[in-house]
Amino acid sequence: MLKEDVVEKIMRVKEAKKAVILAHYYQEDEVQEIADFLGDSLELSRKAAGVDSKIIVFCGVHFMAETAKILNPGKKVLIPVSGAGCPLADMANPYVLDKLKEIHPDAAVVCYVNSPVSVKARSHVCCTSSNAVNVVRSLPHEKIIFVPDRNLGSYVSQQVPEKQIIPWSGFCPVHQSVSPGDVLELKNRYPAAPVLAHPECPPEVLKMADYVGSTSGIIKKAGETDSHILIIGTEKGVLRKLKEENPCKMFYLLSESLSCGDMKKINLEDVLRALEKEEYSVEVDSETARKARYSLDRMLEII
Ligand code: 13P
Ligand code: SF4
Repeated sequence: MLKEDVVEKIMRVKEAKKAVILAHYYQEDEVQEIADFLGDSLELSRKAAGVDSKIIVFCGVHFMAETAKILNPGKKVLIPVSGAGCPLADMANPYVLDKLKEIHPDAAVVCYVNSPVSVKARSHVCCTSSNAVNVVRSLPHEKIIFVPDRNLGSYVSQQVPEKQIIPWSGFCPVHQSVSPGDVLELKNRYPAAPVLAHPECPPEVLKMADYVGSTSGIIKKAGETDSHILIIGTEKGVLRKLKEENPCKMFYLLSESLSCGDMKKINLEDVLRALEKEEYSVEVDSETARKARYSLDRMLEII
């Protein structure tokens, strides 16, 4: 089927079923183009919390669709490819977290949304890369178990030095793949270009960055800066939005390795099939979902 035909069918079925399509900035361009709402993790969580439609088609990775389901237990949340996971989220383990909580009974658990529902359910509050610093600052606890991203945890620890951060050892293989050598190479070519990086990048890279922020933070910063050439340290899907909003600026990706294979699993045919067959429905055990929702609601209240 031609791309235009698939898009037309998606629009027709979506309208007939009164569905809404949410997509993350790391999705393929063709998927971003048909989304009703595009955002980073925090924006998508907020949007998911207020959606009216009976069906949400979530184009992202599994933990994001799961978050949408927890926030909308009465709605049908569909992920077009069931195997679109997040290796970072898979590095968080609920039983190891239980042990860590036993060792540090006075610590609060702050859980990055890139984690399974079982880990969210054992946490005091969730956070995303947009609000991690503010979430940690808002807690009365001096000790914080931060799970599962060690790079975001280390960034938070630098921003909130008055707290003791007990880190987890997880990492995003995509953002972890960039090195100070990549920064030096691009800085050699474009010495005046600022480096905008996601906090999942290694600390040595973040130290060399001019701005550290979430995907939406990077998009906002790129629009505000006077520089016409920018170096981008996050997943390459974001380039679509950056170019659309800044047609006169040039964007260079810190490394070609900044491509998330899981985010790229969904294509237009998958979205159409998801709408037509209403698959793959995301299901979460109601008791675990209730506990995880508490951590998510606390996050949404704080910021
Ligand atoms: P954002 O919080 O910037 O959307 O990041 C999500 C993510 O998966 C980063 O790899
Ligand atoms: Fe997970 Fe990294 Fe992909 Fe984000 S970019 S979904 S953290 S693997």
